[in-house]
Amino acid sequence: MLDLDHVRSQFPALDTPWVLMDNAGGSVPCKQVIDRLHGFLTQHPVQLGASYGPSVDASAAVASGRSAAAELLGATPEEVIVGASSTALVNQLAVALRPGWSEGDEVIVTNVDHETNVGAWRRLEASGIILREWRVRPDTCELHPDDLAELLGERTRLVAFTHCSNIVGSITDVRACTALARAAGALTCVDAVAYAPHRRVDVRALGVDFYFASLYKVYGPHVGVMFGRREVLLETGSINHFFVGEGELPRKFEPGGVNYELVASLPGITEYLGTLGAEGGEPSTLERAFELIAAQEEALVAPLLEFLSAHPLVALVGDASPSSERRVPTVSFTVEGRAASEIPPLLDERGVAVRFGHFYAYRLIRDLGLLERDGVVRVSLVHYNTPAEVARLVEALAEVLGPAPVV
Ligand SMILES: Cc1ncc(COP(=O)(O)O)c(C=O)c1O
Repeated sequence: MLDLDHVRSQFPALDTPWVLMDNAGGSVPCKQVIDRLHGFLTQHPVQLGASYGPSVDASAAVASGRSAAAELLGATPEEVIVGASSTALVNQLAVALRPGWSEGDEVIVTNVDHETNVGAWRRLEASGIILREWRVRPDTCELHPDDLAELLGERTRLVAFTHCSNIVGSITDVRACTALARAAGALTCVDAVAYAPHRRVDVRALGVDFYFASLYKVYGPHVGVMFGRREVLLETGSINHFFVGEGELPRKFEPGGVNYELVASLPGITEYLGTLGAEGGEPSTLERAFELIAAQEEALVAPLLEFLSAHPLVALVGDASPSSERRVPTVSFTVEGRAASEIPPLLDERGVAVRFGHFYAYRLIRDLGLLERDGVVRVSLVHYNTPAEVARLVEALAEVLGPAPVV
């Protein structure tokens, strides 16, 4: 069991009367990250790579940030490309990969992904790349590997899909999908932005070629990180200055370098996770920390799903199972007779912070016919939310949604 008093004491921003349940938008940062950010800016805010002492310290701090990101992803530091955001990184990747492809080659994208892992690939259509769309099953809003198998062909160069939907919260069977793609000779680029705050990541076990996350949703700062498999990175052309060597990983994919102070703060994330379940002893492994997180999240989301699926005016988007194997605690729904935009302000009045919209998974919301209803209401929990907060949300929803209609 997670010690929630300990957990919450690690997040200064949780010292607020607000119930923060917009965490899929962005989690609040842990104090270990804040301390390192402050430490870098006060102790050695100088350029990296020189021989003088403060520069050596600054270089070491940034290197330790990259190592922490690598640990989070289960990768080596040279395989971790750091960028301003996930969106920037995917666009950079598309630019880097395109010269290796020919007109008529194919890329598969989905209709459930956040636009980050769609738009960058769709833009390649203008240069002769053919786009195919892998669509979710209408009953579950989930991606099924069998549907991918039908789209793969000998011209498929890459499959871009999400590990977890930022609307539905359900987890894709990434391993099955990467096995299919690899057998067809295609690369994979997987969006882990909605997954990484909740579960242990292991890029090797998943068999992905590219895999990215946004660390401002993983208790850290606004930094995007992308794993690239070493062999693929070496084969792919540089997007950095001409004099940066083709073997310089990951620098050849980091034009302009990285944001020093933010990267230097990243070991704060792994340090924080190491405190979960450690009770003052040896730091926990990331496996252990995420096991505790998964159990806490399943217990948190269950009463919310129960309330929503029992309410006659509510339609859940996707599955109602609270199982941590199947989902993360991101839950979206619509309310009969009301636009999604009507609900969050009523919850604001009750101190509960959620939001509405398409959440940049525009194509899914459009395909579900929900654009004209202002999308969905999304509640996104993380492990630092408490059972009492969920009870407050459910109570607020019961007030806002009103009694069940008499039939
Ligand atoms: C699932 C998902 N993918 C990608 C992104 C984009 O991340 P970034 O803001 O780092 O570009 C988001 C941001 O909300 C997201 O939720």
